[in-house]
Amino acid sequence: MTTQAVLSVRDLRKEFDIRGMGRRRTLTAVDGVTLEVNANETLAIVGESGSGKSTIARCITRLTEPTSGDVLVRGETILNRNRRSLAAVYRDLQMVFQDPTSSLDPRMRVRDLLDEPLRLHTSMTRDERQTRINALLQAVELPVDMAGRLPHQLSGGQRQRIGIARALAVDPQVIVLDEPTASLDVSIRGQIIKLLMRLQAEQGIAFVLISHDLAVVRRIADRVLVMYLGKTVEEGTTEEIFENPQHPYTRALLSAAPVAEFGRSRTRLRLEGEIPSPVDLLAGCRLAGRCPLARPDCSHETPALLPVSATHRAACPVTVNAVPDRHP
Ligand SMILES: Nc1ncnc2c1ncn2[C@@H]1O[C@H](COP(=O)(O)OP(=O)(O)OP(=O)(O)O)[C@@H](O)[C@H]1O
Ligand SMILES: [Mg+2]
Repeated sequence: MTTQAVLSVRDLRKEFDIRGMGRRRTLTAVDGVTLEVNANETLAIVGESGSGKSTIARCITRLTEPTSGDVLVRGETILNRNRRSLAAVYRDLQMVFQDPTSSLDPRMRVRDLLDEPLRLHTSMTRDERQTRINALLQAVELPVDMAGRLPHQLSGGQRQRIGIARALAVDPQVIVLDEPTASLDVSIRGQIIKLLMRLQAEQGIAFVLISHDLAVVRRIADRVLVMYLGKTVEEGTTEEIFENPQHPYTRALLSAAPVAEFGRSRTRLRLEGEIPSPVDLLAGCRLAGRCPLARPDCSHETPALLPVSATHRAACPVTVNAVPDRHP
C-alpha cells in the first residue's frame, strides 16, 4: 500500500510578464518544480533570495495563479475550481506568512482574527466558536485573556502565534510556512520552532517550511528541496542534504552558512558573483557562470535530476556520485 501525499506539486511553472527597456519580457520565477509532502512530515525549501520559494508557496495557496502544472491536496487538484469547492480545500491547506504584522488586520481584535476562519469554513455556533478560540489560544501557548487585544498590543512573537493559531483554526492537513521566524528576535525564534514541532507531533500536520535559516531546517525538516533560479537542483532527506550534498549549489549554500558544522572541508565551495536575473533565461545549467566545477557542456546542456539514492536526487552530472568518500 502506498501512502497518498497530503500535498503534491507537479511540474509547476510561474512566469511573470514584465516590461523592461520598452518591450515585454518573461521572468521565470518557478520553472517546473515537482514536490510531495506526507502527513506528519516537514519538507523544507531552501535557496538564495529570488530563487522562487515564495512564488511556489503563493501558487500552492492560490494567492497567485500558476502558469502551468498542478497542485493536488490529498490527490485532488485545486486548480480550475470554483470558489465554493475551493473553500473545502482551504480547510485542509493553510499558510503562515513571514510578517505577522502585515498579515493580520490591525483593526481586528485577536478574538475576531481567530473567529474569522471558523465563521468562513465551519458551521459552528457562536458558543462552539468561543470554546474553539480559547482552545486555539491555549494551543499556541497564549493566555485566554489576550482575546480582547489588537495586533499592535502584542509582541512580534505573540503576533506570529496568532498567525499560527489562525492557520490551525480549521484543523488543516498541511500548512505552508514562508519564513515563519525571519521577522522575529533570535530569542523568540526557538520558541516558535518548538511550538511548530509540538503541533506537528500532536496533530500530524504536514509542513512546507521555507527558510533561509539552515540551522532551523536541519533541526526540524525531514526532507529538503534546494532551489536555484526557479529550478530544483537537489532534494533528499535532511541527513543526505547536510551530510552528503552533491550539487555545487547546495555545497556552496552549506559552506556559506554561519554554522561551523556545515562548513566541513569536503563540502566547502564558493560561487562567483551574484544570482543572475531570471528574465529571458538561457539554456544550460543556470549555475554554470558561477560554478567553479563548470565544464564547457554545462552552459548548453540543461541537467536533469539524477538519482543519488532512492530518496536523494541532484541535477549535476559533474558531481553526482563523483564526490570521493570521506576519509575515516
Ligand atoms: N508579482 C511579481 N511580478 C514580477 N516578478 C515577480 C513577482 N513576484 C515574484 N517575482 C520575481 O520572481 C522571482 C522569485 O521571487 P520569490 O519571491 O519567489 O523568491 P524567494 O525565493 O521567495 O526570495 P526570498 O528568499 O527573497 O523571499 C524573483 O526574481 C522576483 O523578483
Ligand atoms: Mg520569499
